[in-house]
Amino acid sequence: MRIVVLVSGTGSNLQAVIDAIAAGSLDLSIAAVGADRHGSYGVERSAAAGLDTFVVDFKAYAERADWDAALLDKVSSYRPDYVISSGFMRIVGPQFIEAFPRRYLNTHPALLPSFPGAHGVRDALAYGVKITGCTVMYADAGVDTGPIIAQRAVEVLADDTEESLHERIKVAERELLIQVLRELS
Ligand code: GAR
Repeated sequence: MRIVVLVSGTGSNLQAVIDAIAAGSLDLSIAAVGADRHGSYGVERSAAAGLDTFVVDFKAYAERADWDAALLDKVSSYRPDYVISSGFMRIVGPQFIEAFPRRYLNTHPALLPSFPGAHGVRDALAYGVKITGCTVMYADAGVDTGPIIAQRAVEVLADDTEESLHERIKVAERELLIQVLRELS
């Protein structure tokens, strides 16, 4: 099984996948890691791990549809079985979703359908929920609206900050993502 991983940020979930492959506990190959901007640590660490990397810079395209088309072209060129959005903070266009039906996965740091969007951890904390968690889903053209594959609960502690809570969610998220990838492979 070949995957392409898309990142915008630090790529710590991606690192867990790289580590699981290296440890022999996950049988798949990362065909490439791509980002929507230059300078992300996710791409930097992937290059350091010897992986193919690419950037389709969102800001370099005047038209959103042109960025969508360029991303689709680039990702398709690697002929992935699955595409994983791992902290990729862009919604892709409908053609991308159609090109990878039930083959484009997303992770989210909240128990969907609660707290979708870019600030799932902050929003859950602000609401005052006592239990939150993480979700792995098939992405669709909406914001965190696709069919849910798996979820894991994480308790909110009385003294949690957004950072401390997100760190614990990420621990659960990494395990969940690897579990889902293992089942798919
Ligand atoms: C992860 O927690 C991921 O779920 C979240 O960004 C973080 C990326 O961490 N994604 C979203 O909030 C998407 N709505 P990482 O770059 O260290 O893997």
